[in-house]
Amino acid sequence: MKRVKRCVGKTGFAVVALLAAVVTVSADDSIEATQTDREFIEMQTSVNAIMVAMVDWAAHEIWEAGYAETLTGRNWLTTKQYATELLAAGTLVSLGGTGRADPVWVVQDPWQVWTARMIDDTKEILAAIEEQDQAKLLAAGEKLVVTCEGCHADYKPTTPTEGILHVPHHEYGDPLARQ
Ligand code: HEC
Repeated sequence: MKRVKRCVGKTGFAVVALLAAVVTVSADDSIEATQTDREFIEMQTSVNAIMVAMVDWAAHEIWEAGYAETLTGRNWLTTKQYATELLAAGTLVSLGGTGRADPVWVVQDPWQVWTARMIDDTKEILAAIEEQDQAKLLAAGEKLVVTCEGCHADYKPTTPTEGILHVPHHEYGDPLARQ
């Protein structure tokens, strides 16, 4: 993909004309650099691990906040932190990772559609948090459940490919604990 910087200033005209010529001969190439049109580091972990360590964890905190009796300012901030984590996890899920089936899943349209829905639901959750509107948070959280279940119905094997399960949560132990 070609990267063409827009030229500004008086001296830029000749360059612009030259670039225009280049663009004409390669009309089928996009001239806009995309955000992924650069080097990036491959994922170092699997979809299964991202699900359990990030997606599921963050989503449960969001759902619990939706059902909580009261939410303090601090609770809203914590919920925002988890929603931000879930938003970032969306992009990771769309990339796939080191899991056996990950490369096969991520090239399929439904995978990207479900992931985009998860991201949209999370944006609604973030909007509810911004307004500190718990009813809206609950409603957006319920939409999120439908999205999780929809993708799982299409893709999740009965036994996860890596064997990493939601329960029990604390099987990993405390990474900072001293024996
Ligand atoms: C784009 C599809 C997709 C979306 C969206 C998605 N998941 Fe998953 N999830 C999977 C797949 C596929 C697996 C199994 C991975 C494997 O076997 O390698 C999985 C595995 C899991 C697991 C571990 C397996 C288990 O049964 O304990 C949990 C927990 C989980 N997902 C929670 C969630 C939650 C919560 C959401 C929504 C907030 C969600 N997932 C959204 C595809 C998705």
